[in-house]
Amino acid sequence: MRNVTLFEGERHQFILLNESEPGEEDGVRSNQYLVMHDQSGVLLDPGGFGVMPRVLAEMLRYIGPAELKAIVLSHQDPDIVGGISTWIELTQAPIYVSKIWMRFLPHYGIREMSRFVGVPDEGMRCRIDADFELDLVPAHFLHSEGQINVYDPISKILFSGDIGSAMLPEDRDYAFVDDFQDHLPFIEPFHKRYMCSNRATRIWVNAVSKLDIEMIAPQHGAIYRGSAVKDFLNWFDELQCGIDLMTGSGIFETKETR
Ligand SMILES: [Fe+2]
Ligand SMILES: [Fe+2]
Repeated sequence: MRNVTLFEGERHQFILLNESEPGEEDGVRSNQYLVMHDQSGVLLDPGGFGVMPRVLAEMLRYIGPAELKAIVLSHQDPDIVGGISTWIELTQAPIYVSKIWMRFLPHYGIREMSRFVGVPDEGMRCRIDADFELDLVPAHFLHSEGQINVYDPISKILFSGDIGSAMLPEDRDYAFVDDFQDHLPFIEPFHKRYMCSNRATRIWVNAVSKLDIEMIAPQHGAIYRGSAVKDFLNWFDELQCGIDLMTGSGIFETKETR
């Protein structure tokens, strides 16, 4: 799959940078997104150490390192943060991450923390240029204790981090979810085991339902559009997951772990 332009306006684009083919990575494939406004770019979840050179190569088709104005890390996982040391060296961009992960990031070999911005629990507005702003939206405990989503009011795309992520088999590699029921088998086990509780899913669905959403773009797998957006939100609102499914012995009622 090639890069996919999810939104194309005169001055504004929202692009899925597709740096790899199925099977190229040992771990779970991840999505990296570039939001562009004029010549200013924001990179969402740049990815692990292994994918960094290819993500950079794809980004360079659109902007140079000096034009990258911000990097957002939805949470602390290695498939997001693993390549950050190199991004710090190559760019001048500030890096936004939940404030609760700031003290742990030095363990990724990061010595200079001055470029990081700790996002408060309630989220914040991230102003890139005079007419380019992104909303950092709280999505805590889904699955990370400090997770932030990114809402782009121009494209109306919600970048949802691990929420909505699919583990697609190699022979079912598609860019968009149009039929939610067809997609469900590829998201259900992951969400039951990795998302923390129905209380957290309900709070998040209630909050994002106030946004005007055209697409939900997760960090793994296909992007929700059309009726699949509402179908996903309705399903997630009701989902029993994480500690809801924990039995007395600490074993989960779901067998699948990814
Ligand atoms: Fe994660
Ligand atoms: Fe992830």
